[in-house]
Amino acid sequence: MKIGILTAGGDCPGINAAIRGVGKTAILEYGMEVIGISSGFLGLINEEYVQLDENVLSGILTLGGTILGTSRENPFKKGSTFNAIDKPKLIKKHYQELGLDALVCIGGNGTQRTAALLAEVGLNVIGIPKTIDNDVYGTDVTFGFDSALWIATEAIDRLHTTANSHKRIMVIEVMGHHAGWLALYSGMASGGDVILLPEIKFDINHVAKYLKKRAINKKPYSIVVVAEGIPTPKGEPAARYVANCIKELTGLETRETILGYIQRGGSPSPMDRVLATRYGAYAVELIAKKKFGEMVCLDGDTITSVSLADVGGKLRLVPIDHPLIEKARRMGVCFGTENC
Ligand code: F6P
Repeated sequence: MKIGILTAGGDCPGINAAIRGVGKTAILEYGMEVIGISSGFLGLINEEYVQLDENVLSGILTLGGTILGTSRENPFKKGSTFNAIDKPKLIKKHYQELGLDALVCIGGNGTQRTAALLAEVGLNVIGIPKTIDNDVYGTDVTFGFDSALWIATEAIDRLHTTANSHKRIMVIEVMGHHAGWLALYSGMASGGDVILLPEIKFDINHVAKYLKKRAINKKPYSIVVVAEGIPTPKGEPAARYVANCIKELTGLETRETILGYIQRGGSPSPMDRVLATRYGAYAVELIAKKKFGEMVCLDGDTITSVSLADVGGKLRLVPIDHPLIEKARRMGVCFGTENC
């Protein structure tokens, strides 16, 4: 069999570990031929690809980013043509000309949606979920999340010491797109006092009241972790909006930090290396069994798969009754609501 791999959407730590997991299993266990498509779905449109052999796959386990490159190309975007040909048609043509028996799509929600649509037009597709946002529907965890969690947690740890020295409120914005997973977990891992998530409607007045009370109770400083996806009145960055409001409403000295792309770069955590490798290896098992149109996923401790048709396009947000939120509230963490 001949298989193609592509990586699409925002990058994250662990992608190369997944490519290696797919490639090594396919070549060594099943004797398959493997090619890497460049720059996501763009490579299938432009016919840009590289041969993946054991040499290319060596030494990439610990490497951040993606050796194949990525793009946010969405071939199913309305009216999307290349040289006047419909992009999905072109992709199917090139897939056939390359003699591919299967295509592995490593990506987040957008990628899984495109993969589901390509499966509908007859391509043998397998999806592998990745993103630091952890918001892909159908899996308990995406790889990339654990690495980003480490980075965000370390950053917040560092804010504690400088906040304490200056007796300040520190507001830190972490990524996550429309989901609050990274804010919730990094906030809890680093002892954040306030955690604001897109999933929980907050009132900035409750946040201010809570922070003033902490100051009155002689707490020297406070840490406020905000998800980038919380709504702000003028669409301004979440941390800037929250920090400005806190300054205005409390008069307390406040600073903001936007962590940004640091969360997506660099070497994957050991957990992400293992998860990405397991996902990659399992994707090849599905191909060998000719079980196509599936997305590899983690269910508890088990690697299994779900139908791409069921996951494509759906978001996995933090449930507002998530047990961690309940535990946090009981420990006095404020989520910006009246009862904290
Ligand atoms: O989906 C991953 C992510 O890093 C989000 O957390 C963030 O909102 C977005 O991508 C940034 O995307 P871009 O690479 O297009 O700036």
